[in-house]
Amino acid sequence: MSKPVARARLYRGTPRNLATLAGALRRGELVAVPTETVYGLAANALDDRACRKIFTAKGRPASDPLIVHILDHADLDGVAKVNEHARILARRFWPGPLTLVLPRQPAVPDAVTAGRSSVAVRMPRHPLLRRLMRLTGRPLAAPSANPFGYVSPTTAEHVRAGLGRTVRHILDGGPSAIGLESTIIDLRDPRKPRLLRPGAITRAQLERALGRSVPSARNSRRAARGAQLAPGMLTRHYSPRTPLVLHRRIDPRNVRADKSRRTAWLFIAKPHGLAGSNVRWLDPRGDLHGAGRKLFGVLRSLDVRGFKSIHAELAPGSGLAAAINDRLHRAAARG
Ligand code: TXA
Ligand code: MG
Repeated sequence: MSKPVARARLYRGTPRNLATLAGALRRGELVAVPTETVYGLAANALDDRACRKIFTAKGRPASDPLIVHILDHADLDGVAKVNEHARILARRFWPGPLTLVLPRQPAVPDAVTAGRSSVAVRMPRHPLLRRLMRLTGRPLAAPSANPFGYVSPTTAEHVRAGLGRTVRHILDGGPSAIGLESTIIDLRDPRKPRLLRPGAITRAQLERALGRSVPSARNSRRAARGAQLAPGMLTRHYSPRTPLVLHRRIDPRNVRADKSRRTAWLFIAKPHGLAGSNVRWLDPRGDLHGAGRKLFGVLRSLDVRGFKSIHAELAPGSGLAAAINDRLHRAAARG
């Protein structure tokens, strides 16, 4: 762990602050930045030493590679060897919550790729981050800005709560609009695209754009064993400390029977006729965009309330539900 430093400073996105933060990034310092998915902990992606600081600050194993964030389409070829499928998806979904895994270019330092022959790249959409990147003039390597294994941050305050002693600069861009990490697709072999992580860009959208099926890498046994293919796909991830129990549907009778109120009950939509400080929901009408946006913040707030356990309902359907349920399953996995 790095030495604790003075409490982190939150910066509003004024021109002067952005210039200060761009300077810090160019000097090899870390800056926590807003993105439309979750907050990231950024360093100059072409500076090996700067990127190594990210691992120390997060307590992240050096074997878990980082995503490179680029500003423009033209920047892609500098970091990755691009194929036609990647061009199709980049044109269709960037800037936005989609990460492409491709063969790397030699300019990308080993710290970023964890020594692999591939690199993960995305072009973020958040306007404030894009202004910062334009001033910085470098691609930014950034994982989610949370201590390794904990729930990803969707506000600047979440970043401060988790990393406030190890990170000095936090750019406040408001709550993340999507609230779930980007979709990751492996396109190293364009004939065999694989979904590594579901997100707001859904499998169906990817399949429509590519005109072929995109199976999950999680279905492959190699990935399930946490091998080569998908280093960050440890089952346990994004976890609150309070044990989490998942249900397809929560039976309201169980909630009413819970007189001690030491269990938190987390619904996707507002349940009828249930109330109390231990009953929460992600979106009043069960809209999944709203639910995704709130998920991590609600898990964090329940986690500090001393509940014995959190019982959460899974999202119905596919598409965005797959991303929400993936995060719930990982948060519920123990060990
Ligand atoms: O939305 C996001 O993707 C956010 C924001 C900050 O952009 N970032 C994010 O980064 O979620 P992180 O590091 O928490 O998750 C990135 C995942 C990790 O599981 C990592 O193992 C995987 O991407 N990854 C990175 N490079 C890879 C590669 N070359 N091959 C396979 N997986 C890779
Ligand atoms: Mg992460």
